[in-house]
Amino acid sequence: MFVFEEIKGDKATRYQHMLKQITHLLEGETDWLANLANAASHLYNSLDQVNWAGFYLMKNGELVLGPFMGKPACVRIAVGKGVCGTAVAKDETQLVEDVLKFPGHIACDAATRSEIVIPLRVNGKIIGVLDIDSPAEKRFDQEDKKYLEEYAEILLKSTDWSPLLDQ
Ligand code: SME
Repeated sequence: MFVFEEIKGDKATRYQHMLKQITHLLEGETDWLANLANAASHLYNSLDQVNWAGFYLMKNGELVLGPFMGKPACVRIAVGKGVCGTAVAKDETQLVEDVLKFPGHIACDAATRSEIVIPLRVNGKIIGVLDIDSPAEKRFDQEDKKYLEEYAEILLKSTDWSPLLDQ
């Protein structure tokens, strides 16, 4: 059974605890679907002020909805569209302090005010993105970016992505 203890301390302390937890949670399991599902739940239940956490995966040249926690979301996002598609097109993390000011932001939950999207790369190829939304403006800063990119790295290293690589 997985127990969420309340971790006191600054943001770095809480993220370091999360990084240990996800390492432990993924230990001995390489199935991509199981690992993405557990990571989505872990992120959603660990981070405060978050209304959506999950994944979009590349399939036939577009992003398709994967495991997530939060309200139902749009299923397909073209590369270059929205925050997720921009993260793929630019091949870099998108940190959006105010989604209302991001041209082309795709609103899946009207409550969302800020968002971070991290591209997931396997052997230099983007296989999908990690997307986290918040109802609070400016919820994510450079420190969140650093730790969430580290989180994505742990997930990438612990998982067998071969079933997704030809899509
Ligand atoms: N806001 C995203 C779409 C996905 S939802 O937030 C879950 C975007 O603009 O790409």
